[in-house]
Amino acid sequence: MWQMAKDSGGLDMNSPYCYLLMCTHFAQTCLMAEMEGEPVGFVTAYRPPTHPDTIFVWQIAVAAQARRTGLARRMVNGVLQSPACSSVRLLEATVTESNVASEGLFRSIAEQMGANFDRSTIFAAKDFPESSQDSPHEAELLLRIGPFDL
Ligand SMILES: CC(C)(COP(=O)(O)OP(=O)(O)OC[C@H]1O[C@@H](n2cnc3c(N)ncnc32)[C@H](O)[C@@H]1OP(=O)(O)O)[C@@H](O)C(=O)NCCC(=O)NCCS
Repeated sequence: MWQMAKDSGGLDMNSPYCYLLMCTHFAQTCLMAEMEGEPVGFVTAYRPPTHPDTIFVWQIAVAAQARRTGLARRMVNGVLQSPACSSVRLLEATVTESNVASEGLFRSIAEQMGANFDRSTIFAAKDFPESSQDSPHEAELLLRIGPFDL
C-alpha cells in the first residue's frame, strides 16, 4: 500500500508504519486489490470513534494501468459490504480541489447509491505546516455521501 501510495502521484506520503497500523486496527475496512497476483489498488478506511455511523475513506489508489475500469468503485463497495459497515449510514472522504478523478469517483458512488452528495472545506491550506508559496498544500474538502441504507 505504501508503495502504491508513493507511485500514485496524487496522495500525501505517510510512513509504512502508518499503513501497518491502519491494516491492523482497521483490518475489516481496509483492502487491497490484486490482478494476476500483483497489487493494483488499495483502500484504507475506518469508522471514526466519535461518528460510528460513518465510514471515512482515508486513502484510495489504483495503479495507472488499472484505472477507469471501475476498480476504485468496486473497492469502496467492498468496504461497504464488510460486516463492520452494517450500521454505516454516511461515507466521508477528503479531497483537494485539483483532484478531479477522486471527486469524480465519490460523485459517481453517490449517484450509484442515489444518495446526497455534499462538499465543504474541512482543512484550509494554512492548516498544513509545509504550506508555503514554494510548496503549498491545497485546502482539503470534506465530501459527504448519505444518509443511505446498506
Ligand atoms: C481516484 C482513483 C482512485 C480512481 O480510481 P479508478 O479505479 O480509475 O476509478 P473508477 O474506474 O472506479 O471510476 C469510477 C468513476 O470515478 C470517476 N472518475 C475516475 N477517474 C476519473 C478521472 N480521471 N476524471 C474524472 N472522473 C473520473 C468516473 O465517474 C468513473 O466512472 P466512469 O468510468 O463510469 O465514468 C485513481 O484515479 C487514483 O488512484 N488516483 C491517484 C490517487 C488519488 O488521488 N486518490 C484519491 C485521494 S485519497
